[in-house]
Amino acid sequence: MFTKKEIEEIRREYPYLNLRVNDHNLIYFDNAATTQKPQRVIDDILKFYREENGNPHRGAHYLAVKATTAYEGARESVRKFINAKSSNEIVFVRNATEALNLLAYSYGMNKINEGDEILISIMEHHSNLVPWQLVSKKRGAKLKYLYLDEEQNIPFEEVKNKVNENTKIFSLSLASNVVGTMPEIKKIIDYVRKNSKAIIILDGAQYVPHNKIDVRDLDCDFMAFSGHKMYSATGIGVLYGKEKLLNDLDVFLSGGDMIEYVYEDKTTFLPSPQRFEAGTQNVEGAVNLASAIRYIDELGIDNIREYEGYLTDYCYEKIKKFDFLDVYTTSNKNRAPVITFNFKEIHPHDASSILDSYGIAIRSGHHCAQPLHRFLGCNFSCRASFAVYNTTEEIDYFINHLTDVRRLLGFGS
Ligand code: ALA
Repeated sequence: MFTKKEIEEIRREYPYLNLRVNDHNLIYFDNAATTQKPQRVIDDILKFYREENGNPHRGAHYLAVKATTAYEGARESVRKFINAKSSNEIVFVRNATEALNLLAYSYGMNKINEGDEILISIMEHHSNLVPWQLVSKKRGAKLKYLYLDEEQNIPFEEVKNKVNENTKIFSLSLASNVVGTMPEIKKIIDYVRKNSKAIIILDGAQYVPHNKIDVRDLDCDFMAFSGHKMYSATGIGVLYGKEKLLNDLDVFLSGGDMIEYVYEDKTTFLPSPQRFEAGTQNVEGAVNLASAIRYIDELGIDNIREYEGYLTDYCYEKIKKFDFLDVYTTSNKNRAPVITFNFKEIHPHDASSILDSYGIAIRSGHHCAQPLHRFLGCNFSCRASFAVYNTTEEIDYFINHLTDVRRLLGFGS
């Protein structure tokens, strides 16, 4: 695991740590929403605009070629990072939401029919729920959910009971942004493959930033994730898909750079990835994602996972002791670095505003998971989520101020 000294070095690279918020040093615990960026990743954005900015795939001049090389180099970095077979399997999109919508529109709206079933789980982020709801309504299919047990795990019985020959889409989050649950994905995929012909989609938004991922080993068909949750700029995300399946998909957005030939009355399209990247690409974002991947590779994703796991366990043990809180994070230690809770008597927005006055940034709200909150018996919650630059000292400060929240609102002493 990282030593204290190594964490100090890591922290030195984060300019946000120089911010003063409400007269306090900022403690940033909203990493599941978006991570902060290290200086080298910020610098690489400027480097791109200074040295490589051109429109890729469209010119023979120096900067167009530079931009093309940078953009396609970034695709290759992503391929390696998730161990895809070919860089043709890496489609750059805006974020995980766009990747999942692409699949819902290009696959779901065309291939799903009445009587078919789409299986997701109750812990899905709206991005992996609403698109499937729209598909099922439009196409007359049934949307089914896997539910969680008391420890917020997906019982394998649920999978066995809900997968059948009518399951045509199986789309599951690799890590919940609320309860932190990480399903036993290999076992689940194996079962889905053996008992249905469903395409298997994974939402990796909360998993890929923290864990080693190997899409070939998992044998998923598609996977979505976002750059901004893994130390990169916003506006860049990835849809991974098996090449043959991507090329079988209908086009999504159409226009420049995704075509082969355009006639007055018809058009032929390029294969993946260009097929899905209409218009001028987000070259800056892709190149920046590659920069963030270099950063993660340098730190080591296993080291990141271990350290964030340590922070999560540390916080979980402390926060569970407060009887004035309800804690929703799974007790399963194989979990995403999120601690989600409610004060029994206090609205999450009030709690997070008071914590903000001490310089502590947590998220409050439904975290884009309303059905999950209803399932948990609440509408909103508070969430502290960790990244590699957080420390146990920050967690202690946060824990100490939870009692202040109550005191300030007239509960407890
Ligand atoms: N999906 C992000 C979150 O969980 C925005 O906060």
